Amino acid sequence: MNKPALELIGIERAFRQGHKVVEVLRGIDLSVQSGELVALVGASGSGKSTLLQIAGLLDQTDEGSVYISGGEATTLKDEARAKLRQQSLGFVYQFHHLLPDFTAVENVAMALRIGGTSEKEANERAREILVQVGLEERLDHTPSELSGGEQQRVAIARALVGDPVLLLADEPTGNLDEATAGKVFDLFVELVRERGLAALIATHDVTLAAKMDRRLTLREGVLHSA
Ligand SMILES: Nc1ncnc2c1ncn2[C@@H]1O[C@H](COP(=O)(O)OP(=O)(O)OP(=O)(O)O)[C@@H](O)[C@H]1O
Ligand SMILES: [Mg+2]
Repeated sequence: MNKPALELIGIERAFRQGHKVVEVLRGIDLSVQSGELVALVGASGSGKSTLLQIAGLLDQTDEGSVYISGGEATTLKDEARAKLRQQSLGFVYQFHHLLPDFTAVENVAMALRIGGTSEKEANERAREILVQVGLEERLDHTPSELSGGEQQRVAIARALVGDPVLLLADEPTGNLDEATAGKVFDLFVELVRERGLAALIATHDVTLAAKMDRRLTLREGVLHSA
């Protein structure tokens, strides 16, 4: 079998708050294969965002290792880690974090430009993927000229345009009304499946979690199959 897109082994993470130490992750083992969509659920404060930040190489661990496509990522130097993140990972957050002064195409293209793709190719690929997420009529709109659902589609396009192996999403539809959330989420699942990506998605929404291949609950610092 291929190496998993994401493998976490023995992840521990604690935060110091004054004199108190909060142990958020107490030994997380997780493996997500390409083509697999995994829901990460758990009460507010259980550590879902912390886990996603670690899997996304945006936060350090106290103990344990993160492997991306079989490669140990925990010990990489900053530059190599940034490169791996740029080439292999895609992120979608609850709030889109699009740049307000740039159009949809420019926001998506920027993800490629950072990696050294030419402006012409980056713009072409950005347009292509924005058409795929149903925004062909909104290519030159800035975020304030888009609805919440449309903004989130641009954020999804931005996460996918670099052809990542692993998509990490932190309540990607948490800011949308129920009907829009359902539509955006279905699109999200369709794109992930079509591309054979691995996806780890934190959500509070049980209906959305039910659409994924597996559900894991984070409770008292460890993962439970749900
Ligand atoms: N940088 C930090 N410093 C101190 N404590 C932190 C830090 N980041 C997270 N925590 C604590 O770790 C715990 C887990 O936070 P986290 O954001 O991962 O939870 P979550 O499951 O994503 O919650 P939610 O569903 O509300 O988004 C919380 O108790 C939080 O206060
Ligand atoms: Mg969170």
